[in-house]
Amino acid sequence: MLVETHLGKQAAQAVPLSDAAMRLGVLPMPTLQWTPEVERETAHLYEKVKRVIPPVEWPFHAPYVKAINDLKRQRNAVILAHNYQTPEIYNCVADVVGDSLQLARLAGSTNADIIIQGGVHFMAETSKLLNPDKTILIPDSKAGCSLAESITGADVRALRKQYPGVPVVAYVNTSAEVKAEVDICCTSSNAVKVVESLGVDRVIFLPDRFLAQNVAAQTKVKIIAWTGACEVHERFTAEEISAYRANDPELKVIAHPECPREVVEVSDFAGSTAAMIDYVKSQAPKRVLLVTECSMADNVATETPNVEFVRPCNLCPHMKRITLPKILESLVYLREEVTIDPALAARARLSVQRMIDLG
Ligand code: 13P
Ligand code: SF4
Repeated sequence: MLVETHLGKQAAQAVPLSDAAMRLGVLPMPTLQWTPEVERETAHLYEKVKRVIPPVEWPFHAPYVKAINDLKRQRNAVILAHNYQTPEIYNCVADVVGDSLQLARLAGSTNADIIIQGGVHFMAETSKLLNPDKTILIPDSKAGCSLAESITGADVRALRKQYPGVPVVAYVNTSAEVKAEVDICCTSSNAVKVVESLGVDRVIFLPDRFLAQNVAAQTKVKIIAWTGACEVHERFTAEEISAYRANDPELKVIAHPECPREVVEVSDFAGSTAAMIDYVKSQAPKRVLLVTECSMADNVATETPNVEFVRPCNLCPHMKRITLPKILESLVYLREEVTIDPALAARARLSVQRMIDLG
């Protein structure tokens, strides 16, 4: 079986070389064939994903998996993959997986020359902020985020005028341009801690209004919220969760705090994607409903064979722009390179670094 990346060959002619490709050179596109050698060399990886990828699909993934893992070594590259990446990326080619905070921390400590971001654009920008001298690539720069797109640097400046002296906390799901205007960043796993670290009685919290509501429920600090929302999590409803519960009293419900407050209120636990994974692993519920992006359940299922997953998942179209063929092209052609104006990056880095320094 021959699996060819036609896109790669056409795009190689159509797209100008990135600066990184000029510096480091383009490599030949590997031949992508399902051979006994590929089958043998990827068998241990298929073992990890066999619960969520049917055997008939593996011959399509495996040649990419082998080619990507070979090229990573050749390029001294690492792949940082968010927990919402598809199981073949998360389990078979990623070097580091995690939630936004874990990825930001690990981006700052890698020795690799090249970081490929398996995730969305604001994550790749965060990696660049923490590694200004490394080559940061995102396999598809159109992988955006409804939260990051809901606010601009000019909006933050207007908020500061409206609320003089009130510090601004930005969820990492924001552009570097926005990070450059704020006091400190947070993720869903440290938002309450970050808000309380400022020692004030009110903060501006942006851009996610639902995360803001969920943080406000856990602190005495008054939260002034922006009106953004995650297009994946805002669609879950409390009625939907209650209907699942009514049919299955043993079901554990675990929600991401980007969900509306009323969804979190009818859940057993809420936390970042890493905290959700920890909950499933440590509590090992018989049946669990993860109120979050679709690939999470697949990725946790590979490691928790005794847990049954109920799947009312919503798909993040941005996360799903990252695919094995595009990761391979990133490694071959060194695209798409993430660059940030150095003066803006210096200001944005401060707000990310303040968060990381909080521990
Ligand atoms: P965390 O992985 O930090 O919980 O973030 C979830 C998310 O929606 C990232 O885009
Ligand atoms: Fe953005 Fe939501 Fe997609 Fe995460 S899941 S990248 S917050 S749109």
